[in-house]
Amino acid sequence: MVYDVVVIGAGAAGLMCAAQAGYAGRRVLVLDHANKAGKKILMSGGGRCNFTNLGTTPQHFYSENPYFCISALKRYRPEHFVELVDRHGVEYVEKAPGQLFCATSAKEILRVLQTECEWAGVEIRLQTQITRVERHGEGIRLATSLGRVDAGVVVVASGGLSIPTMGATGFGYELARQFGLEVLPTRPGLVPFTLSDAWKARCAELSGVSLPVAVSSGERRFVEPMLFTHRGLSGPSVLQISSVWQPGSTIEIDLLPSENAADSLRYARETTPKRQVSTWLGERFPKRFAQALLEWYPDTHVSKPLAQYSNDELDQWACRLNQWQLKPAGTEGWRTAEVTMGGVSTEMISSKTFEVKDVPQLRFIGEVLDVTGELGGYNFQWAWASGVACGQAC
Ligand code: FDA
Repeated sequence: MVYDVVVIGAGAAGLMCAAQAGYAGRRVLVLDHANKAGKKILMSGGGRCNFTNLGTTPQHFYSENPYFCISALKRYRPEHFVELVDRHGVEYVEKAPGQLFCATSAKEILRVLQTECEWAGVEIRLQTQITRVERHGEGIRLATSLGRVDAGVVVVASGGLSIPTMGATGFGYELARQFGLEVLPTRPGLVPFTLSDAWKARCAELSGVSLPVAVSSGERRFVEPMLFTHRGLSGPSVLQISSVWQPGSTIEIDLLPSENAADSLRYARETTPKRQVSTWLGERFPKRFAQALLEWYPDTHVSKPLAQYSNDELDQWACRLNQWQLKPAGTEGWRTAEVTMGGVSTEMISSKTFEVKDVPQLRFIGEVLDVTGELGGYNFQWAWASGVACGQAC
């Protein structure tokens, strides 16, 4: 079988790239080992796919080379993808500022991509194993479970390592190494934290409780909800900070991000001296959490009115509310991570065409590259933008 372009991976980036190359008149084949295309699209955004973020800028991405993503993101912007879904009649909602989700189901986004591929004449073959990829003259030859496939260009869109049960493999990294490219260390990103025994048990009791907080690690701070889980902590703020967290380090959680607890407690002591700390906490937190705080710190909570609290005692409360220090035991790992940090180094990849500098017939796009977005639709925007740039250049 002979094709102009063979795309490895029928995910977000691969399908987008294939459609573009097809529209450009190329004979395109997409290969995937999974039994279904776009599995991650289907499970994304809680089944509703946060397919873009209207506020996408290069600053929302992590990469050893922060400039690499600029060109593709500039050329294919969120409005372009919105125009595409509009054309296909997909209804969507802006759930948080800039974050667009399908109104009904993530299936709609997969339908758009599959329809585009069909219109562009792209052939998609699933449940196909690729056992060898090597240069062959000016092109590339693949050994697959379908037999030998010759291609002018091979685009690697095999994604990262998160959620192996959805078909994730290290295929793209192995191929990159085979062609002499550097692969930067990978680790799970946008992933819940696990906690050690005492805190694990405490948080497990609060499982399901969500609070608006600010979570910090080093220089980064995210003001978004946090969710207690059976294993530890999750929710948008925690997922965001997990991408920058270094194992063994402490995170800081501000449980009252828009209030200086020290000032408020002193003010309350002055104006309502008979009030109890429990009442003050109850006005700010869900009942279960306020009660838990009192149980966690029994030494500083005695049943006495605020008037009897010393400045030191109030400061102790303020500190644990505005600067709760917590050392996660780890993360839930690849099993639940939304993305992979690190990956194929962009150093030898063209940011315009995504071709490998010394091997122009080989290209890498999407999450397999060392470009990872924050939470909020940025990762799909990267998949679309890199897919379009590469597909149009194939
Ligand atoms: P993707 O992983 O989509 O596709 C890779 C394809 O390659 C797969 O079809 C896989 O089967 C195939 N493949 C792998 N190894 C292979 C091999 N050896 N041979 C053949 N085929 C192979 N992002 C976002 O912006 N908004 C959101 O709402 C979410 N939500 C979300 C939820 C969850 C639970 C997860 C896990 C992830 C998200 N994401 C997200 C992230 C987003 O899904 C991700 O960044 C993109 O799917 C990456 O697109 P790619 O096409 O690069 O890889």
